[in-house]
Amino acid sequence: DAVERGEYRHYMLKEIHEQPQAVTDTLEGRIAGGRVLTEIFGVGAKDMLTRTRAVQIIACGTSYHAGLVARYWIESLAKIPCNVEIASEYRYRESVVMPDTLFVSVSQSGETADTLAALKSAKARGYLATLAICNVPESSIVRESDLSLMTRAGPEIGVASTKAFTTQLTALALLAFELGRHHGLDEARYADLVRQLEGLPGAINGALALDGQIRALAERFVTKQHALFLGRGTQFPIAMEGALKLKEISYIHAEAYAAGELKHGPLALVDEEMPVIAVAPNDHLLEKLKSNIEEVRARGGELYVLADADVAQQVPHADGRLIVLPPCGELVAPIVFTVPLQLLAYHVAVLRGTDVDQPRNLAKSVTVE
Ligand code: G6P
Repeated sequence: DAVERGEYRHYMLKEIHEQPQAVTDTLEGRIAGGRVLTEIFGVGAKDMLTRTRAVQIIACGTSYHAGLVARYWIESLAKIPCNVEIASEYRYRESVVMPDTLFVSVSQSGETADTLAALKSAKARGYLATLAICNVPESSIVRESDLSLMTRAGPEIGVASTKAFTTQLTALALLAFELGRHHGLDEARYADLVRQLEGLPGAINGALALDGQIRALAERFVTKQHALFLGRGTQFPIAMEGALKLKEISYIHAEAYAAGELKHGPLALVDEEMPVIAVAPNDHLLEKLKSNIEEVRARGGELYVLADADVAQQVPHADGRLIVLPPCGELVAPIVFTVPLQLLAYHVAVLRGTDVDQPRNLAKSVTVE
């Protein structure tokens, strides 16, 4: 396996660095003349997109976090309601299906038992159609779905998902744009969004260049027992994903909070010992987030701030613990800001000497309940 890992010490690190290419591959042949091609979702997709009046997304683990980001995109671009649920909850719950709801399952492997069971039960619940966002074309979830859009991440070996996640977000962005276009999204806005997506591989490369700085910061986490991740809007699920990565491979207890919830509990945990990682892109929620960051600083929390180059200096931070990302556009920012969080978890785990690619008690694909 040393050959496949090439120059990289772990599959996870290799897969983190493959993200610009994986995203390029996921976009390849799917956009032409500034438009997402409707046919990429399969036969009958145009009719399906036009008729869709609501979306239900189902997934587990990291794929669930991709679904949570997509909800913000779909509701803001297409103005249609979108619900996201963990597959193991959905499958045993009596849910109410509104007419013309599209069921979307998100899965890297296409074999996760709970997601597959949720999909099978959805068929009896009266959905408009089922769509799989998946990385394995011959998988059970793709075979069971009416329509599919493949992520083209290539094989992912590290148990902690990285390139599968960013390509899922890329594919879900294509879906959100297309739903938007069939539901009255403004042409100029649409064109700008497509441009942001086309610039995504370059922006991810810019984020990967932060590796050295993040490796140095990771040393401060080695002796920590806990960490708190904060975000708002689409960056809230990214904070959740950052916390999941850290706990999966470094075994540090990490929690993510929507920054506005800080005052409803987690603020009580903040002291000089608590690292708090805030994800602060230049979006419409920045002012709100700044005051949440200030709340942490005032209580002596050990702040780490991820911010856009254009606004970085306005965001409260501690010297040396500000991580500046290249400007990339609000829509793709959650994808770009994921990368430094993956690198942080990776370097902390390496420093703590854990088995990065095969964390204890976890499996790459959970095919039994
Ligand atoms: C396991 C993996 C996770 C993954 C989850 C869902 O828990 O360790 O990395 O996110 O399953 O897997 P799926 O293949 O359905 O995306």
